[in-house]
Amino acid sequence: MSILRGKNILLGITAGIAAYKSASIVRLFVKAGANVKVILTPAAKDFITPLTLSTLSKNPVISSFTQDTDDNAVWNNHVDLGLWADLFLIAPATANTLSKMASGRSDNFLVATYLSAKCPVYFAPAMDLDMYKHPTTKASLETLQSFGNILIPATSGELASGLVGEGRMAEPEAIVSHIESHILKELSLFGKTILVTAGPTYEAIDPVRFIGNHSSGLMGFEIANKAAQLGAEVIYITGPTHYSSNHSRITTIPVVSAQEMYTQVHAHFQSVDVAILSAAVADYKPKHVATSKIKKAETTLSLELEKTKDILASLGKIKSHQILVGFALETNDEVDNAIKKLKFKNLDLIVLNSLNDKGAGFGGTSNKVTFIDKNLAQTAFPLKSKADVATDIMNELLKQINA
Ligand code: CTP
Repeated sequence: MSILRGKNILLGITAGIAAYKSASIVRLFVKAGANVKVILTPAAKDFITPLTLSTLSKNPVISSFTQDTDDNAVWNNHVDLGLWADLFLIAPATANTLSKMASGRSDNFLVATYLSAKCPVYFAPAMDLDMYKHPTTKASLETLQSFGNILIPATSGELASGLVGEGRMAEPEAIVSHIESHILKELSLFGKTILVTAGPTYEAIDPVRFIGNHSSGLMGFEIANKAAQLGAEVIYITGPTHYSSNHSRITTIPVVSAQEMYTQVHAHFQSVDVAILSAAVADYKPKHVATSKIKKAETTLSLELEKTKDILASLGKIKSHQILVGFALETNDEVDNAIKKLKFKNLDLIVLNSLNDKGAGFGGTSNKVTFIDKNLAQTAFPLKSKADVATDIMNELLKQINA
């Protein structure tokens, strides 16, 4: 899944021959799951039609301050459009438009929207080589970058004039990946690897039966998603659940039993910065697993159970640089029990949920938690969606990482 998914993207197209490639840019943004609106300068319509762009973007294309309906002129609001955008790309950006952007000369809808936009602005110049080299163009590029706008440099190659040199607009794929990696690098967890365990484990009794629990895996799934959205590489080790992610930064490792989860967690722990163990791991498993289906015979059946390995505690014993986060699900003496677990398992943070709180714990989509950190500082949160609890966990992690 692209980092651009769900983003509102404004694409400004100016009057250069490279405008024909802007259709591909729209297509790539839409494919990445973004919402796209296009602004054309009036002269750009000589190079590409609004119909092509409105069809690809599935939105009306704007090229002037007003649009004529049957009897009335309707005002196109550049301020609203500028605020709607999560990012603004101007591609191709001609020397003329670059100079207007740099000097604030808003004599068309595109530049007026540029001046109103509060979002990150990317621009991909396209022009002949001598225009690209000209001191006024160089000055515009520098001025725009000093405003915080992001240059996607032109490349070298054959130009529309027949000359060969620097000035070709970067290719659509390169423009889109430039934007994606720029966004990613700005994210707060970029460069961090986070291991997340989620869901229940199933402990086999025989080939068709198991001991399990009611964990849905949603809490861990939301944590994995939130970490990936913030730019982390996520190793998501999950017991059997209905949740699956196609996020490109989440590597999913499905497991079934506590022993499989233990093995996978230990295979990755040394390479991660943070481990968040939210799985509801079975504490006991059958001592002997029948190799064929157990037939009903007697009126009672006894199973001998033995302890599983405590994955979280085993990490607490070997952790070096990692931040270790555990969960505690309690029914009584909640805070005291959670503090005991925090200390015994050598954690940096424990997320306590009490089964006495309505809406907390297994099953539902909400949770009510209290954080206890290694200095025993407590923060109690109100009932929230599990997605919002995941955000709170990420904020706490960022505090610890940046401390
Ligand atoms: N956990 C684990 N491996 C286990 C059992 C638990 O990694 N075999 C982790 C869970 O993922 C959770 C934390 O330990 O982060 C606390 O689990 P919990 O069941 O509340 O506590 P336990 O230590 O198992 O103790 P008890 O069941 O007695 O409360």
